[in-house]
This record gives sequence, C-alpha cells and structure tokens, in this order.
Amino acid sequence: MKTTQRLDKLLAHAGFGTRSEIKKLVKIGAVAVGGKAVKDSGLQVDPGQDVITVHGERVVYREFIYIMLNKPQGVVSATEDTRDRTVLDLLDDEYRHFQPFPVGRLDKDTEGLLLLTNDGKLAHNLLSPRKHVPKTYYAEVEGIVDESDIRAFAAGVTLDDGYETMPAKLVILAAGDPALGKPSKIELTIMEGKFHQVKRMFQAVGKKVVFLKRMSMGSLLLDEYLAAGQYRELTEAELAGLLQDHEGKK
Ligand code: URA
Repeated sequence: MKTTQRLDKLLAHAGFGTRSEIKKLVKIGAVAVGGKAVKDSGLQVDPGQDVITVHGERVVYREFIYIMLNKPQGVVSATEDTRDRTVLDLLDDEYRHFQPFPVGRLDKDTEGLLLLTNDGKLAHNLLSPRKHVPKTYYAEVEGIVDESDIRAFAAGVTLDDGYETMPAKLVILAAGDPALGKPSKIELTIMEGKFHQVKRMFQAVGKKVVFLKRMSMGSLLLDEYLAAGQYRELTEAELAGLLQDHEGKK
C-alpha cells in the first residue's frame, strides 16, 4: 500500500488552505519536513514517518474523518445535486475538505442518523448486503399498527417489486387513534437497506409512513443532543464499535 503522498495535498487536507496558499507557505520557508525547510510543495512525504511542521508547529495529520449527522428533512443524501441542498452543504469547510460522502441514503424527507466519511472501505462494509448491519428507525404511521403487522414483519413481507424482506423487528411505542388524527408510533429494525424500504414495508401491509427518522446503524446510536442539521465527529469508542460491527460479520 502506498504510504507517501504529496505534501501540498496533505496540508490542504489538514486545513492549511488551498494548494496555492500552501505553495506560498512553502515559498516563505514556513513548512519543514524532518526539521528542514522544504522548497517543493509537491514533495512526497510519509505522514506516518515524517515530522511535518508549519511555522514550527507539528501538523497533526489524519487521513479519515467520520461524522455523525442528524440529517434534517429537505436535504438529499448526496455529494452534489443540481436542485436540492445536500448533506455536504451542512458541513463546515474544515470537514468538507476531507471530501466525505454519506454512507447509504436517507430519503429527502427522512431525518436522523447519517454517517459521513471518506473511509471507502468502512462505508463499503457497512453497506454490504452480506453484512446485514441492523438499522433502527422511529416512524409515525397513519392508522393503527397492530400485532398482525408485528407478525408480518417478523415473517418478512413482499414489497411492490416482489422482493421478500428479511425478518424485521417491529415495536409499537404508541397506538394510533385515527379518530383524533393521531398516528401510530413505532420502532422498526431492519437488516437490509432496500430503496425506501421502511415506507414500502408499511405499504405492503396497507399503511403509510408519515414521519421517519433513523435512530441507529449497527452499534452507532444517534446522539440525542444533536438537533436536526447538527453534526459531530464520532468518538473513538463509536468508531471502534463500528469497525467491530463490520469486522465481526464477515
Ligand atoms: N426507509 C425508507 O423508506 N426511507 C429511508 O429514508 C430509509 C429507510
């Protein structure tokens, strides 16, 4: 595996500006590798080995970033879009320059836990259909969700395209009351991630999801202190949990 990379790229990732700004820093002798001022901003460096300083301060470098976002409604889970705001538009530049992308998709009108990272391997593993990473959603559903739905979801339902879902766990948190216009409140854990899966599972039993929020993905739980639209980096423990989630399930 290649361990070296261009100095200007590394410094740009570490937040020292654009490549041309970094060129200027190099020109004035502010950047040193192994204690020696460098002349070429395109120098190949090994961030694991070389001590890199800017104005004498050691550059703390990291390659990957892992962000937990409480996705609000109205933004799309994409890196760019011609019409809508994307989840990346919610991030400050200091995070965006790592070029993270969303791990999987939530619908435009779905809220909740979305992991953003530039770690392609982790993303691939979490999304792999073979890994069956459980995802738990809170939903509000028109009408009355009852025991028959619990049984149907536990057995697997047939979606509109003929797909048979894997067994899923449905918990009724509060019964709905159509007379009062009150939806049922439920929690659903699914082990797969088909397009619009939660909405289509309820559709399969003749019901309509009117609010949807993802609460967890594997061992990662949405931080209840993050308001919709807010985000933070994962803690080391959260990251270790996620890595274990996918390593433990080959
Ligand atoms: N299921 C859905 O229907 N929508 C989502 O956004 C996520 C899961």
